[in-house]
Amino acid sequence: MKVVVIQGPNLNMLGVREQNIYGPMKLEQIHAQMKEFADQNGIEVEFFQSNLEGEIVDRIQECLGDANGIIINPAAYTHTSIAIRDAISAVSLPTIEVHISNIHRREEFRKTNMIAPVCASSVVGFGPFGYHLAMTGMTQIFSEIQAMQEAQKQQAAAQA
Ligand code: DQA
Repeated sequence: MKVVVIQGPNLNMLGVREQNIYGPMKLEQIHAQMKEFADQNGIEVEFFQSNLEGEIVDRIQECLGDANGIIINPAAYTHTSIAIRDAISAVSLPTIEVHISNIHRREEFRKTNMIAPVCASSVVGFGPFGYHLAMTGMTQIFSEIQAMQEAQKQQAAAQA
């Protein structure tokens, strides 16, 4: 099972930008921790960061037939991007949205969320730990998918 982690604009600046909101951890450190967890749980993981909306749409589309799930922090595009929302909807893969900060307690404009309605789940306000929670959630989703596939196989075998 494979998960693709997609990071939106300015997340390459973690550890530098607004440390009072996002903390001191760099994106590479977050990804290293996620990779360690994925390795321990037998999950393949790939990371992608872009400041460009179209590149994020392309990367989501590439997940079709290649990945089993997506973890995404669309950053500022969360609040504006119908294109990213439509891409997530189009590939129809289990998707978990992560926000480092609690977007519901911040400026009014951050309360508009284009992405959440097409996601299986959202993790907000846990800081970088939210990515770990999302990985844990994704392993649970993968186990459920695998259990369902196994049950379907057994049912088909019993009917044959
Ligand atoms: C963010 C929240 C967004 O509102 C903001 O534009 C970001 C980061 C978060 O992780 O808390 O860039 O997605």
